[in-house]
Amino acid sequence: LPGDWRSGVDAGAIQAKLSDDADHQIKAVCVVHNETSTGVTSDIAAVRAAIDNASHPALLMVDTISSLGSMEYRHDDWGVDVTVGGSQKGLMLPPGLGFNAVSARALAATASASLPRSYWDWQKTLASNADGYFPSTPATNLLFGLQEAIAMLLEEGLDAVFARHARLAEAARRAVQAWGLELLCRNVDQYSSSLTAVQMAEGTDADAFRRIVLERFDMSLGNGLGKLAGRVFRIGHLGDFNELMLLGSLSGIEMGLAVSGTDYQAGGVQAAIEFLAG
Ligand SMILES: Cc1ncc(COP(=O)(O)O)c(C=O)c1O
Repeated sequence: LPGDWRSGVDAGAIQAKLSDDADHQIKAVCVVHNETSTGVTSDIAAVRAAIDNASHPALLMVDTISSLGSMEYRHDDWGVDVTVGGSQKGLMLPPGLGFNAVSARALAATASASLPRSYWDWQKTLASNADGYFPSTPATNLLFGLQEAIAMLLEEGLDAVFARHARLAEAARRAVQAWGLELLCRNVDQYSSSLTAVQMAEGTDADAFRRIVLERFDMSLGNGLGKLAGRVFRIGHLGDFNELMLLGSLSGIEMGLAVSGTDYQAGGVQAAIEFLAG
């Protein structure tokens, strides 16, 4: 289902599509919880409700790669069948680990699935996991890192971690708005706590701006992807991140705006400081 890339998924459209699928050709609804390329989140519970309202058996599969450990996410409560996570974002680890949370319905679906698979076969993994092993060589170094990452998250407390990210994200958005730039995410209730995507004015080359920030201040900003290439830059604020790190990022952007000759208003960093110190 196409979207506008500035809003979360439309649960109503999903419900309509499923209601039209009388002979149940659709096997799964796949949704990204936090879209890393746009900084837009989607309401997963609403998608579950849409599937249920359509009385459709499709499985609900959710990508939480850039939300897991940074924003509230509830696999069981939201009735998700397959959740996919990764090590490289909110879990503060290098890339290399992937995680699946799998419902009983999704596990049952593997029994009749005819897609050839070996490495990705959950049954093999589950059988080995029962004894504390893996069917292939596990990335033990990353698993030791994961143990520590989880200890850090639980020591701070998940609610406190989520609140920290939400607060830093709000400070970032205040800076963007003070600069007179546009948040890519249209809807207040869909703002991401992991990252903020900023749309530059029509005719401004966001990649040229990112290059200046990289060359002058040694800071790499995320780019716009696909049809947003050259229009957008992204500010990451997930994982092991605090006020001073954010203010460093925002200062680099504000200096970049000045150096690049972009049309903007000074004061974004100050707006963030006022929010964070308030
Ligand atoms: C939301 C989301 N999904 C999927 C991916 C792809 O993950 P990987 O590169 O580990 O395959 C990423 C990027 O890391 C992501 O941010």
